[in-house]
Amino acid sequence: MSDIPVITIDGPSASGKGTVAERVARALGFHFLDSGALYRLTALSAMKHGVALDDEARVAALAASLPASFRDGAVWLADEDVTDAIRAEAVGEGASQVAALPAVRAALLDRQRAYREAPGLVADGRDMGTVVFADAVAKVFLTASAEARAERRYKQLIGKGNSASLSALVADMQARDARDTARAVAPLKPAADALLLDTTLMDIESAVEAVLAHYRSQQGN
Ligand code: DC
Repeated sequence: MSDIPVITIDGPSASGKGTVAERVARALGFHFLDSGALYRLTALSAMKHGVALDDEARVAALAASLPASFRDGAVWLADEDVTDAIRAEAVGEGASQVAALPAVRAALLDRQRAYREAPGLVADGRDMGTVVFADAVAKVFLTASAEARAERRYKQLIGKGNSASLSALVADMQARDARDTARAVAPLKPAADALLLDTTLMDIESAVEAVLAHYRSQQGN
């Protein structure tokens, strides 16, 4: 199991880690795990079942038996395509709340580790390098200023025809960062052996190249 290489890409929301992780996985022919999607699916499932997001035991039970799958470029909860639904701001907010519950994190641990399959895995999230894949061959912590991240999210939302307020997005970004960083269990922080990559002034291609170069430099160590 531990012979299968894992590259972890952690960082705050809208740091670009999802896009970078997916492209690195494609470049190497590796599998890809978007761990945030599992927390988003858990929150969505709780909302659908009328379970309070702070009811730790019941939310953890939902997480443990989540009928989630990733197929054909879409995200499914049982037979419902929830690709767009899990990206709603309210679901992201709910994901951040349920992610602070230790029993929920424990319930998702084995499921995340099961994605480690040959020829390798690129995993993106908050605690991929610190907890879930602590033995990863290459770890990256991707960040960017809250303003830069809010601006990226703003462009995404406007591009999809939604209305958005940049100042509200900066405030949301800072609040979510604060909760993800301050929580007692698996807080958002770089692994001691992670490469820190600040993408405030970097485009996606350069970030992908930097991650691939880091992976190559770690191989054989
Ligand atoms: O990466 P994302 O925005 O889809 O993540 C949604 C929420 O899930 C985020 O607020 C933090 C949480 N999360 C986490 O705690 N641990 C992970 N490995 C991934 C996401």
